[in-house]
Amino acid sequence: MTAPARPAGPPTWPYPRWIAHRGAGKLAPENTLAAFRLGAAHGYRAFECDVKLSADGLPFLLHDATLDRTTPAQGTAGQRPWAELSQLDAGSWHSRQYAGEPLPTLKAVARYVQSNGFALNIEIKPTPGLERQTGEAVGQAAVALWHGAAPPPLFSSFQPEALAGAMATAPAIPRALLLDTLWDGWLTAAQALGCVAVVTNFRVMDAGLLATLHAQRLHGLCYTVNDAADAQRLLALGVAGIITDAVDHFAPSLDTGGAALAPQQPDGAS
Ligand code: G3P
Ligand code: MG
Repeated sequence: MTAPARPAGPPTWPYPRWIAHRGAGKLAPENTLAAFRLGAAHGYRAFECDVKLSADGLPFLLHDATLDRTTPAQGTAGQRPWAELSQLDAGSWHSRQYAGEPLPTLKAVARYVQSNGFALNIEIKPTPGLERQTGEAVGQAAVALWHGAAPPPLFSSFQPEALAGAMATAPAIPRALLLDTLWDGWLTAAQALGCVAVVTNFRVMDAGLLATLHAQRLHGLCYTVNDAADAQRLLALGVAGIITDAVDHFAPSLDTGGAALAPQQPDGAS
């Protein structure tokens, strides 16, 4: 008896194609719940965020290793306990409208996305040197916070060590390798980490790369796509996900499954 033929290409993708970057990009303070709410108001149903650990091991949202850019405090965020981090103003740097907006915990974000039926891409963004530990802790937290709810979060990271940590504590939560460049051994690494997808800088993605990914049953996603021509090119290629800051220019509801998307133009654009 012959075995049934394995279907060609990657398995069905459970996540929306359009993903708001850092909550909702640049219109609200990145990686805050205010940003998520703004993205949702623009029709987004999937969100990317950056997660690292406080000194006492709590997963929370912050992009940079230091607090300098997005809070009034300075220095390495991961060296402070959550009791201190939770008091910081993560909104005033953006605009007065968001003064007092706190840094959110992963727990608060999990509650928000699950209550609203949204999907979450958790980029594991470790404080340098804590890659494995961060992956393990975020994996453990996500298992407890989602406890089987669908869709599960999608983990991603530029650091294979972080994904290995997440694989150890949360083997059933899907993983994606983030690639700014196609470094030697990236495909072997993605396969060894049991990834379901690769998320590349949009400039790196082309038909050849996507065909390579699909032949290996991997999905291809791209970041950070803010230009209509880039979005059209990637949609025509058939990427599974587009991570964007431009939530006010790209309306997910207009995406009918491919190149038919007609991005909204910014006010005043021709
Ligand atoms: O996850 C995709 C994207 O967020 C990676 O870049 O620096 O914005 O975290 P960055
Ligand atoms: Mg990110």
